[in-house]
Amino acid sequence: MTIVLDGLAHRFANHFGRQPTVVSRAPGRVNLIGEHTDYNDGFVLPAAIGVETRVAMAPRPDDIIRVIALDIGETAEWRLTDALPPSGEGHWSQHVRGMIAMVRKEGLAVPGVDIAIAGNVPQGAGLSSSASLAVALGMALYHSTGTNLDTVRIAQLAQASEIEAVGTNCGIMDQLVSARGEAGHAIMIDCRSLGCTPVRLPEGLAIMIVHSGISRGLVEGAYNERRAQCEAVAGALGVVALRDADMAMLDTAADRIDPVAMARARHVITENARVLEAASVLAAGDLGRMGALMAASHSSMRDDFAITTPAIDALVALLQGAIGTQGGARMTGGGFGGACVALMPQSRVEQVTAAVREGYRTPAGSEPLIMIERASEGASILSSAQTGSA
Ligand code: GLA
Repeated sequence: MTIVLDGLAHRFANHFGRQPTVVSRAPGRVNLIGEHTDYNDGFVLPAAIGVETRVAMAPRPDDIIRVIALDIGETAEWRLTDALPPSGEGHWSQHVRGMIAMVRKEGLAVPGVDIAIAGNVPQGAGLSSSASLAVALGMALYHSTGTNLDTVRIAQLAQASEIEAVGTNCGIMDQLVSARGEAGHAIMIDCRSLGCTPVRLPEGLAIMIVHSGISRGLVEGAYNERRAQCEAVAGALGVVALRDADMAMLDTAADRIDPVAMARARHVITENARVLEAASVLAAGDLGRMGALMAASHSSMRDDFAITTPAIDALVALLQGAIGTQGGARMTGGGFGGACVALMPQSRVEQVTAAVREGYRTPAGSEPLIMIERASEGASILSSAQTGSA
């Protein structure tokens, strides 16, 4: 990515006429496998990546919030006491309003603040640009109020903000891996216990992300519908969540559950099993088996969960063909557009890149954005007045 994030404190000072007291950062993520399993109390295997959102902040003596989104040159202003606008308004400031509201609800004494935001996580790509913004804000707000950083709690508040302020009834994966990522590792998350187990990625592994160019806009309705279908099946099976079901259990209930809901549940149950196996085969460096699991995950998202699109299916097939048995590819993220993730030895990157450039065009007719990423560190405080470096 070419967007330069350095100098945020300086840009804050240019705009607000004073120094920030804290600068924080939180990364985007790519999910290697485990889609739509998080809100079913299941397992996911994402990694934080090198693109991120940064937030510079300084408290004010009043109750006014002023924000500048530097990448788009837009500002917003409101009062702490203003009601949270209804979800679904679609304005970028809704993410900031939501996160501040959740942190206040948590009981932290948030003062008025000036905020500058900059980031290079591509938007609409399914790489969690909004989760990274919310987590970076949470880090800065906790720090500003002198509260000990509890990164799991910050992730939960960021998830609550997405649900309440934005209207997507999402799970915890994006926010938690943004908060808890580790360099060189994917993170196996048990979304029931919120336990995070780092899985070391094999030496020489390349993570390629290809943005289909199909933007994931306005997909809240389809996402929330999937979640409701999963919860309805769990209810019909008499379990807390689909995490607690297996295929035998589902099959015995086939006459009571409609075929579409059956298919949704089959995806979740089989995907959970694939994540558990993926964590061990990745740790063992078995890219061939990992590729087979990624292929099965993609087919399941296409046929059972119905969240892929024909263009994305074609892009994944192209990647799989170019990679062969030395890795794999699948759509990543919530679906209905966004990016595909591919794993392969670094030595194959050039050839696979060439195949994608030759064989895929975005709906706008251009070459797709291709990112070669490494698994990165989760959210952190970059500088603060206390350390004298802001
Ligand atoms: C979005 C949501 C996550 C998760 C994925 C699908 O990214 O924010 O909670 O459900 O979709 O795996």
